[in-house]
Amino acid sequence: MNNFIFENATKVYFGKGCVKEYLSSLTGKYGSKILLAYGGGSIKKNGIYEEVTEILKRTGNTVIEFSGIMANPTYEKVLEGARLAKENEVNLILGIGGGSVMDCCKAVSMAAATEKDIWENYWAAPGIVDFEPVPLGVIVTVAGTGSECNGGAVITNEKQKIKTGRDYPKCNPRFALIDPTYTYSVPKNQMVSGGFDILSHIMETYFSEPNEDNVSDDISEALMRSVIRNLRAAIQNPEDYTARSNLLWASTMAENRIIKLGKKCDFECHQMEHQLGAYTDCNHGQGLAVLHPVYYRHIYQNGLPKFVNFAKNVWQIPGEGKSDEEIAAEGISALTAFIREIGLPGTLKELGVKKEMLKEIADTCNISAGSYKKMTPEEILDIFRECYE
Ligand code: NZQ
Ligand code: ZN
Repeated sequence: MNNFIFENATKVYFGKGCVKEYLSSLTGKYGSKILLAYGGGSIKKNGIYEEVTEILKRTGNTVIEFSGIMANPTYEKVLEGARLAKENEVNLILGIGGGSVMDCCKAVSMAAATEKDIWENYWAAPGIVDFEPVPLGVIVTVAGTGSECNGGAVITNEKQKIKTGRDYPKCNPRFALIDPTYTYSVPKNQMVSGGFDILSHIMETYFSEPNEDNVSDDISEALMRSVIRNLRAAIQNPEDYTARSNLLWASTMAENRIIKLGKKCDFECHQMEHQLGAYTDCNHGQGLAVLHPVYYRHIYQNGLPKFVNFAKNVWQIPGEGKSDEEIAAEGISALTAFIREIGLPGTLKELGVKKEMLKEIADTCNISAGSYKKMTPEEILDIFRECYE
């Protein structure tokens, strides 16, 4: 196991009714001016907006609204939020939504507390956060990114055609309220996309060194089985409280740094998906679903024992009479079949990617140092081409 230091500053309140029970006491700690940030309006249809604003107003807060945060939030949107936060001298940012809202709010929390250009200083390249961002709290409405319990924020610079993430511990939300019933209204296509994102975060961690016995890999196998089982259950019954709870907690567990401890981590598929997103604005989980099986067929021979464990322990592939290569390949086929079963796309063409874009996208992808097989831009292009149709 590699050396590590562990800290997670986010306090989590999980379960049905947690917003009603805890929100007013949490916001009370910061002052009464609250920037209420949300996306395209789903919270107005499912009643969450009404529930939250009623609590905030009843407890005497001034609410400044920052709405319309899009999927794959842009740097322009971050600057809009920062302007609002500065003009109104807000004491707390309260983000309600999924990864896009939470990530945008983290970047706003920084941009509102400094005069620096945060893209140039903190996203174009890693920087040192030598100031205190505006405090952030989040209310999670969809399972997927796990952004509620880390400092990670993925932002798209549309002008530069770069979508990139940085993880600054000072951006960890101070609190996260996670009510599984809030996710009942997530449409099926977004639920499976978020579900696959969870699986992807776990796989990107699991398929990396060290390869010897380690706690992280054991937890990861259990988490992957749980995501597969509960995604199937939630597809059958979107109001299955147990399934929605497990998906939410698995998404937090995948990205709250715990399973990454002692691991090198890969995340090459994420690097590739982020650039696909920068060029096409495609959906994150859908892009990952297209890429993973093909990427794994490219790297599995370099990490064969782990791919054998994946096949046997996650997909229950029997090993008798088969070579390790055959077992590993069957594991990747089981993953591919699951992607089809839950209705995710299988080709880049379905995501609206144009063939002639592929080379430029491949050339702009970051290369992960944690992959079992270090990619080159040429091999990334090969993978994109194999994924195309
Ligand atoms: O915008 P609204 O109207 O709210 O609708 C959203 C959006 O259309 C909808 N939705 C969310 N909760 C809902 C709901 N619809 C009905 N009922 C509800 N309860 O879902 C749609 C997608 O939301 P979004 O936040 O974009 O999805 P997700 O959580 O998958 O976030 C994706 C973003 O997070 C980044 C991705 O790259 C992408 O930009 N990531 C962030 C990470 C992190 N910070 O740790 C890690 C990830 O790997 C990822 O890169
Ligand atoms: Zn992801």
